[in-house]
Amino acid sequence: MKRIPLYIVLCLFVLLSACTKPSEPYRSVYHHTPEANWMNDPNGMFFDETTGLWHLYYQHNPEAPVWGPMHWAHSVSKDLIHWEYLPIAIYPDANGTIFSGSAVIDRANTAGFGENAIIAIYTSAGETQNQSISYSLDGGRTFTAYEGNPVLMGDIPDFRDPKVFWDEQSNQWTMVLACQQEVRFYGSPNLKEWTLLSRFGAEYGEHGGVWECPDLVQLKDERMKEEGDKWVLLLNINPGGPFGGSATQYFVGNWDGKTFTCEDAPEEIKWLDYGKDHYATVTWHNAPDNRIVAIGWMSNWQYATIVPTVAFRSQNTIARDLSLYIDDAGEARVRVVPSPESWAIKGKSIKRPTDACIIELHLTGEQDAVITLSNNKGEKVTMTLDVHSHTFSMDRTASGDCSFSHEFAAVTTTPLFVQRSSYTIHLFIDHCSIEAFDGDGAWAMTNLVFPSEPYNHLEVQGGEATIYEIKN
Ligand code: FRU
Repeated sequence: MKRIPLYIVLCLFVLLSACTKPSEPYRSVYHHTPEANWMNDPNGMFFDETTGLWHLYYQHNPEAPVWGPMHWAHSVSKDLIHWEYLPIAIYPDANGTIFSGSAVIDRANTAGFGENAIIAIYTSAGETQNQSISYSLDGGRTFTAYEGNPVLMGDIPDFRDPKVFWDEQSNQWTMVLACQQEVRFYGSPNLKEWTLLSRFGAEYGEHGGVWECPDLVQLKDERMKEEGDKWVLLLNINPGGPFGGSATQYFVGNWDGKTFTCEDAPEEIKWLDYGKDHYATVTWHNAPDNRIVAIGWMSNWQYATIVPTVAFRSQNTIARDLSLYIDDAGEARVRVVPSPESWAIKGKSIKRPTDACIIELHLTGEQDAVITLSNNKGEKVTMTLDVHSHTFSMDRTASGDCSFSHEFAAVTTTPLFVQRSSYTIHLFIDHCSIEAFDGDGAWAMTNLVFPSEPYNHLEVQGGEATIYEIKN
């Protein structure tokens, strides 16, 4: 046989690698992912009713699939499922790289940049952390930095992630800012001059790490007329989460335009999600029908930069609507349900699970239920509804690739909070994630998984399941 010269073999190899895109078995199909490279926190989300577009900016390093100089990258969607990538919206400047923050529609032109200007408020991360603003006169596509930046100077090292809303009670813009292990509230008539209103948190909640990405929302529930609306302070913390690393805690209370008063006992810790991969969760400005719509970054700083994806890193959770409910102990809690837009992907029922599907579980509640998702390689995720300890847990210790970090293999557990005679649970599965929701929103649990092939078997003891394909 004739030998092929080495230079031809080399040329063929170079040609082949140029033509083949890296295979992306873990690329989500109905979750937002960055087109390439690194993403962390969702930022500046706002809904524009004139175009029907949901805008989502995000922490992005355009150079590499690991954290680096932060930009605000930009995606838009008409349905919160299909995302269009737009050019990077805000680049690092002389004040620093662009850390997390929020955006508002300035309807009344309070800042003087123009009626309905979109104003982004974010942390300029330079030698110190300060807050800056940039404005957009083309509906959020391109931004110009305000020449008077920064608008709020930091006096401590961790001074970041401004979330701004228009407060009807005090008739001014209000900023919630993460300041080490407390939040500070500031008020402003014009988004340019800020006055300290109050502080909260030193003696409340979990303090195992730095507080980041706060948000303050007013939540209600039709079934809770007597209690009325409450204000909920969402607060991301890293580390210090219930299963290690990053997580989202929240405080229920009242906001009077100046001060947040917490109704929870200081030592009480409430988590918005009882999985390991739910962080930097904040809500949309101007969501339709006064809804409070949240998304979070589906990862954990313990291993976010080394998860086994190649061309991109990280995805966001599905959109979730937040409201309130009272649990069996009489405590007000945040109800978390997949948003109607997230439900719209539910297609026909199918026989077996696939790499992207929805599973609806009906568990009798008379005995412990054990739900096992597995593949032909013997990799599996085991979920247990324990009717004696009133908990739901997800075990991903044998779920597939756990080798990249010793922090990854884990069992996460949530109390059920409300005892029922039977339980409905929804599992949203997408290539490398499982989001589990109590049927009535009493708890949520979000975990990444990296199976070497999709889970295609489902076994349910103590109930039954219907599997739905994903509609495109
Ligand atoms: C949270 C966070 C924020 C910060 C951003 C930097 O994940 O640490 O506090 O603004 O990421 O990328």
